[in-house]
Amino acid sequence: MRGIARFSDEWIEMVKSSVDIVQVIGRKVQLRQTGRNFVGLCPFHDERTPSFSVNPERQFYHCFGCQRGGNVINFIMETEHLSFPEAVTKLAQEQGIPVPSLSPQDERREKRREQLREVNQLAARFYYRNLRSPDGAKARAYLDSRGITQRLARDFYLGYAPEGWDGLVRFFEREGVDLHIAQAAGLISRGSQGYIDYFRDRIMFPICDHLGRFIGFGGRSTRSGQPKYLNTSETEVFNKSFVLYGLNWAKEEIKAQDQAIIVEGYTDVISLFGAGKKNVVASLGTAFTAQHSKLLKRFGSQVIIAFDGDTAGQRATLKSMEILHENGLQVRVASLGGDQDPDTFVRTSSSHEVDQWLNLAQPFREYQIDRIISQHDVETREGKLTASTELVSILAKLDNAIERDEYIRYGAQRLGVQGSSLAADVAKQRGIDSQKPVYNRHIAETRSSTKLLSGASGDELIERELLRCLLGNPDHLLDLQKNGITAHDFQNPDYRHLFVLLSQNQSDERGTVIANQLYALAEPTASWEEYLKSFLLTLKKRRLEKIEEKLSSLENDRKGFDTQMELYRLLKEYYDILSNKY
Ligand code: UTP
Ligand code: MN
Repeated sequence: MRGIARFSDEWIEMVKSSVDIVQVIGRKVQLRQTGRNFVGLCPFHDERTPSFSVNPERQFYHCFGCQRGGNVINFIMETEHLSFPEAVTKLAQEQGIPVPSLSPQDERREKRREQLREVNQLAARFYYRNLRSPDGAKARAYLDSRGITQRLARDFYLGYAPEGWDGLVRFFEREGVDLHIAQAAGLISRGSQGYIDYFRDRIMFPICDHLGRFIGFGGRSTRSGQPKYLNTSETEVFNKSFVLYGLNWAKEEIKAQDQAIIVEGYTDVISLFGAGKKNVVASLGTAFTAQHSKLLKRFGSQVIIAFDGDTAGQRATLKSMEILHENGLQVRVASLGGDQDPDTFVRTSSSHEVDQWLNLAQPFREYQIDRIISQHDVETREGKLTASTELVSILAKLDNAIERDEYIRYGAQRLGVQGSSLAADVAKQRGIDSQKPVYNRHIAETRSSTKLLSGASGDELIERELLRCLLGNPDHLLDLQKNGITAHDFQNPDYRHLFVLLSQNQSDERGTVIANQLYALAEPTASWEEYLKSFLLTLKKRRLEKIEEKLSSLENDRKGFDTQMELYRLLKEYYDILSNKY
């Protein structure tokens, strides 16, 4: 689906004008006419009063709550998680508009890819039936012994590749399949005496792309020895760096929860899914890539990494969390004992224990710190020293002052040193020779910091500290108002609620609970001005991120007039924000 260039502006315009945005959106959102516009509850964020509006004249939608908006194609992209070409094709097909053909070369390539997927699907069916035939008895017993029920085996379309050399080859011959295609799909290979099956005597895990098209397989041996898993090697439709196993089954749930669980193995996916955690995907035994992250980000913004507890798993965790974080996902880590993987853990734990394990997933910075501590004997002077050097190098890289402060406290506590000394080292590392007065006070104090820390992202911390200050001195409200800060600028729903109450000088039960939690925190360590500055920076960052997101979704878009205007507007806003006009 890369060949976007095949659609002309005229054709895209024709598709757009063949539909009425009000009608298309009306299928998903209950709309009510008010004047020229239609309004309804926004499908992209949770709300009780409508801030989502559709303009039939301009054929645009916009939400005043979450700022999402666009044309009818953007709407289909967003709600159905499709790329631009996918969305526009879908719309055209619904309208009975013929989809233009590709350049002859592109067309050949696309047709061949389609053939490879078809032959993969055919093979999946063959393996599937074989598992349920007398030949599959041993394989069924194996699945049974691993706690994979028939129901789960069906859900994941598991199969069995027969023993012998050419079961699949002969099946393909009967079906009249072009064996060259089957070979290109990595399903059979050419031996000295003709074609032979690539997967033999293996439990087969079909791998689909996020649209549910069959693109490859993982095959597990039921015996020890040999490679445990044999995967389809790279083909024209299968590239490990782009595929997440399970995404086709998990995507709706990831969207609903705005969160994905990432595991390492096929069996981990299946077990978690079986335990009701359906927002689960696996990278196929490779480290997470930027492409994986981007794909995932189309469906949700938070991830929990739940890799194997062994050293390889820990190493993969560290590597993957950096990549996921760099690509703008909020990362937490649910760790396991050294001999466990999510599959074994889930099968030996109650559902309550599984819930707890996921709920207690650590913010990834905390995980990083813990790992450093655990790698050194911090009871000895040398251990403490090397651990602190490593900590400092990580902490010094945190640009957000409040986040840094928070993790300095955490690190110091774990290391058993004064927060002020760690802070001084961090400051030095950051090229600041004068230690900030902020860290001098109450740093090592016994604030219930670990508990408050877990789950709170950097953004949330700032919101929290800002409100903490505001509670202490309501006069600061004026400052916030002067800077144009509104309730919408608070992401945490509790904090947003509290802010509304404070600005209206009201109170309610929920607000009181939240306020009391904030009062229970230590006195703010930085000045009001510092917190305000950090918060404004955060808002700026969020705006930039939103724009970047939009820009990248428009990137694929062929430059129709709307798109050009939109790009122009976004770029202008982007640079205005950067150059501090806001
Ligand atoms: P694991 O060895 O943890 O697999 O490798 P697993 O899923 O827990 O295996 P079971 O439970 O023993 O059946 C994690 C993932 O790495 C890839 C597979 O995708 C596997 O699911 N892998 C592993 C391979 O591709 N080849 C191998 O030989 C081993
Ligand atoms: Mn494993």
